[in-house]
Amino acid sequence: MMSDADALILGIESSCDETAAAVVRGGREALSSVVRSQIAEHAAWGGVVPEIAGRSHLRAIVPTVDEALREAGCRREDLAGIAVTARPGLLGSLLVGVTAAKSLAWAWDKPLIPVHHIEAHVYAALMSVEDWQFPYITLVVSGGHTSLYRTDSPLDHTLLGATRDDAAGEALDKAAAMLELGYPGGPAIQKAATDGDPKAYAFKRPLLGPDSLEFSFSGMKTAMLYKLKGPGGKREDPTLPESSNLAGMAASFEAAVMDTLIRKCLRASKQHGIPRILIGGGVACNRRLREDMAVAAARRGVEAVFARPEHCTDNAVMIAGLGHARLQAGETADLLLDVMAS
Ligand code: KG4
Ligand code: ZN
Repeated sequence: MMSDADALILGIESSCDETAAAVVRGGREALSSVVRSQIAEHAAWGGVVPEIAGRSHLRAIVPTVDEALREAGCRREDLAGIAVTARPGLLGSLLVGVTAAKSLAWAWDKPLIPVHHIEAHVYAALMSVEDWQFPYITLVVSGGHTSLYRTDSPLDHTLLGATRDDAAGEALDKAAAMLELGYPGGPAIQKAATDGDPKAYAFKRPLLGPDSLEFSFSGMKTAMLYKLKGPGGKREDPTLPESSNLAGMAASFEAAVMDTLIRKCLRASKQHGIPRILIGGGVACNRRLREDMAVAAARRGVEAVFARPEHCTDNAVMIAGLGHARLQAGETADLLLDVMAS
């Protein structure tokens, strides 16, 4: 008989534009991880289209779950529970994953474990740490969220500050669109910025006063528009992306976003006297963020840990992992479980 600590959890994720399923042992060891990305289906529209996302999840959900179980060599009787993202996300997309999870939980008589997507991104970063030493300052930075938390356990997060407008990933996506670099913008900006001078263009870091732990990225987007099209965005003929300094523009914008994130993390760490920082979410894949954060943290004697890149963007390993912690705490749901967009 398997102990609770080694329990196998099936995780299901469908909150945005990835259909994902995974089997995780003991909240730590991924036995399988299947991610079907819809990026190609949304690319022509320059962003995620909710109707397309919902339909795409519907087509993908059964083969994705099936593949995750097969890849893990996992039979239904081996599973201790089924974890699923119930919030936040696109309503129609969440419904697909939650309905699949309910059906399996009912048919196989397993506990149904609802998971909060943002908390799962935090859990993904916790999976990079061998011996947990709570509390942590945690940054979740993705296409939909830029939030700082104090994390006291995998299940216990206190919001310290969030974005007032655009998420960091959203700002990168919009900037990339202005530079005609394609979608999703984060990886495109990183690539275009590779040989660029991050000081080529001046972008103010929006720190919002000396003590604020909130974020605001919409001004940076406007600043880029002005640099490209003149004050008021009126110039008909933007000097970029044709000009040779596309790399400089991409690098300057990227550096301003990442620098802002780093300064806010270190500010939170100092204010709360917590010298340990966790970082997760899609933007945490960013190379400049990882490198510059390592340098800045070392200088302050702070430990900064990132989720593994494959656990930064949306995946179901983090859902199954947090699901394990929730099951151990008895935090399950009945079949009336509802979804919540926010
Ligand atoms: O966590 P995620 O997959 O989905 C949400 O929950 O939002 O994050 C997606 C976001 C997108 O905005 C994408 O542009 C950004 O993460 N992203 C990156 C990189 N890879 C993905 N941003 C900067 N650098 C990257 N390498
Ligand atoms: Zn996410």
